[in-house]
Amino acid sequence: MTRVGLIGGTGDLGSALALHFSKKHEVFLGSRNLDKAKSAVGDIYSEKNRDYVKQNLKAAENAAVAKECDILVLTVPCENALETMENLSAKFRGDQVLISAVAAVTKKGDEFRVNEDASGSSFAQRIKQRIPDSVNVAAAFQTVPANVLYREKEISADVPVATDKLEVYENVASLVSEISGLRPLYLGSLDLSGEVERLTALLLNIGKRNDLKSPTLKFPSF
Ligand SMILES: NC(=O)c1ccc[n+]([C@@H]2O[C@H](COP(=O)([O-])OP(=O)(O)OC[C@H]3O[C@@H](n4cnc5c(N)ncnc54)[C@H](OP(=O)(O)O)[C@@H]3O)[C@@H](O)[C@H]2O)c1
Repeated sequence: MTRVGLIGGTGDLGSALALHFSKKHEVFLGSRNLDKAKSAVGDIYSEKNRDYVKQNLKAAENAAVAKECDILVLTVPCENALETMENLSAKFRGDQVLISAVAAVTKKGDEFRVNEDASGSSFAQRIKQRIPDSVNVAAAFQTVPANVLYREKEISADVPVATDKLEVYENVASLVSEISGLRPLYLGSLDLSGEVERLTALLLNIGKRNDLKSPTLKFPSF
């Protein structure tokens, strides 16, 4: 059984992914604060009341997630992502996969704006620079609405995955495919991760201005 961990798992996306991944994996929902992680796990137990959740979902500190898990998903806001990785850098076991779900989005007034670095580097690229080389970094899930996943509503969405190695893509794609209705699509190297990180602002603004609930990304082909 693969150990999957959520860094910042107490939030909306981390909790939603933890719920789905616990169907097949031992899942560690991480937080900076163990009591907060326990409380989030308790909420999922009581709201979902599933045997697999009770059996497979555990609370942990982010540092333990970084050390113990084979596949990690980073689900913290972009403003806190780089500092979080710097703080955890020494904790990684190595030979792991870290999926950054971080979207480059910031709220300004009543609009969502792309949060960009002057260097042009994506969050996933900057995250990679802050953790050991033996941790393979991918970007995925930026365009998947957490509330739809958590409510287990039917979803049909494409999930671009950016990462440097094909074998890492296959690993991430297999995890994405376990969530019914999500189709992983290979975007290319991690250098392209900014393309998908920027899409979230577009989806949120379109949703807000046009009263579309939880818009997502889908590539029809004709
Ligand atoms: N929500 C969505 O629908 C969605 C969809 C796609 C992608 N995303 C991306 O996924 C990430 C998480 O989104 P979210 O909506 O789940 O975020 P969120 O609920 O706002 O925050 C997630 C967690 O981040 C941790 N956190 C907050 N401030 C922090 C800090 N200063 N340092 C370290 N950790 C901190 C908190 O965990 P602890 O306090 O427990 O440590 C919090 O529960 C974001 O980058 C977002 O852009 C979200």
